[in-house]
Formats: sequence, C-alpha cells, structure tokens
Amino acid sequence: MSTLKLHNFNKHFYGVKAVNGLSLEFEAGKITGLVGPNGSGKSTLINLITGIIPKDSGTIFIADGFKTDKIMAQDMYDYKITRTFQNVRVFEQMSVLDNLMVVLTHRNALGALFEKKKKLYEDRAIEILEKLDISEKKHELAVNLSYGQRKLLEIGRAIAMDADIILFDEPYAGLFKEMIKKVSEIIKELREAGKTVILVEHNMEIIRDLCDTVVVLDAGELLAHGKPETVLKQRDVVEAYLGE
Ligand SMILES: Nc1ncnc2c1ncn2[C@@H]1O[C@H](COP(=O)(O)OP(=O)(O)OP(=O)(O)O)[C@@H](O)[C@H]1O
Ligand SMILES: [Mg+2]
Repeated sequence: MSTLKLHNFNKHFYGVKAVNGLSLEFEAGKITGLVGPNGSGKSTLINLITGIIPKDSGTIFIADGFKTDKIMAQDMYDYKITRTFQNVRVFEQMSVLDNLMVVLTHRNALGALFEKKKKLYEDRAIEILEKLDISEKKHELAVNLSYGQRKLLEIGRAIAMDADIILFDEPYAGLFKEMIKKVSEIIKELREAGKTVILVEHNMEIIRDLCDTVVVLDAGELLAHGKPETVLKQRDVVEAYLGE
C-alpha cells in the first residue's frame, strides 16, 4: 500500500492561482474523493502529481518516505502511479487489445510482438476487457469505440499498469448507468486489492457510495478534508458548490 503526500504545492497560470499552497495526505489503500466546483484546481492537481505539467513549487512523498521535488511524467511507471484523463486519452489508431498490450509489456509495441510471455499478457488483457464488458471489441480500433467504451478502455489501461496509486479524473462523465455500475465495482475492487485511489467526481451520490475520505478544493485551496458524511454537510462546502 502506498501513501501519497503533498507539501506546499503551487501552480499559478498567469493571474490564476489554480493550486495555491496545498498540503495534503492521501490515505494508503483507501478511496479519496477529490471534489470542488468547476475550476477549483482538481485536474491541475492531478496533472502536477503525475508530472503532466510542471509545478511552480512543492514536494511529493510517495510510498515509504520516497521524496521528490521534480516529478516527470515518464517516471510514473517507476513510482507506480497512474491516472486517467478528464478528456479520455487512448491510442486511437491501435486495436483495443493492443492498447492494453502496450501497457502490459511496458509500453513497447515491438516488444509485445516478440515477447515470450505474449500469451500470458494477452490472457491478462482479455481478462481486463471482460471485466469492463468490452472484450467483444478487442480487434476494433479504439477510434471506432463509443465515447463511453473509450473511457472504459482508458480505465482498463490504468488497471493494466498495476500501479499502487491510481488517480481517476471524472471517470464517470458521459457514461450510461450500466457502465457507471461497472466503474464503481472496479474502483471498489482496486481498494480491496490494497490500491490507493483518488477519484475526481461531481456526483455526490457516487462520492458517498465509494469514498472513505473526501478532499474539497475551492479556488486551488483546501476547503475541507474528512469523512464524506461529515464534510459534504459542512456549510462552507455546500456554499462553495451552490455559489458556482
Ligand atoms: N493550461 C492552463 N492555462 C491557463 N489556465 C489554466 C490551465 N489549466 C487550468 N487553468 C485554470 O486553472 C483553474 C483550475 O482549473 P482545473 O482544470 O484544474 O479545474 P477543475 O477543478 O478540474 O475543474 P472542472 O471540474 O471543470 O474539471 C481554472 O481557473 C482554469 O481555467
Ligand atoms: Mg477537471
């Protein structure tokens, strides 16, 4: 199980304080909801943690005290962190199966072809696709999937990574009811497997159902942190949402 701790994270875009002096600890092996009004800095925070954009300042502590000031996206595999994007990102011109194979074989498409363990990886890829109910699409190019199916595929890629810390940026957005149920099952399974999950979501029913803890951001700052049943009732939290 891996904890994730942030100290004094800052990211300003010109005049906008997207993330402002934020210090936080995400509990190992739990699901933490990351909520807040539009523009409160949730995606920026995930982008900073995963090195997609550089932060202005801040220190990150991963696992057993491992500490770094500089986070690079290409190091995420070694840090055992993965994420999904608010705007779904998959390899559109690859088949659904290959989208998982490149992850399972450490992102090396050529390696996948010659890898002795190919069959093993393929079985794992199919297992993940079956869990997501998209295994019948395995030979389809990802670009031909529906939006929801592409979101599920991206979640599949995150599972295939077998990371310790998984950050989901609005994985439910644009999904039908059945798919929503599926994603919740998967997130709960990740917790059962001891993973540390961070979930950005606007639907408070989902947050209440899944999360052990919730972190509320407002204008890039920490507004509240605690159990969903307590935090979501707090007056300042309700006002931050209604004030949108
Ligand atoms: N690349 C960028 N350049 C300039 N400003 C940005 C950039 N990315 C984010 N911002 C600004 O930073 C603030 C935080 O944005 P962010 O996308 O992190 O919010 P969010 O909480 O994820 O919102 P939402 O719920 O709508 O996804 C916003 O004011 C946004 O306009
Ligand atoms: Mg966002």
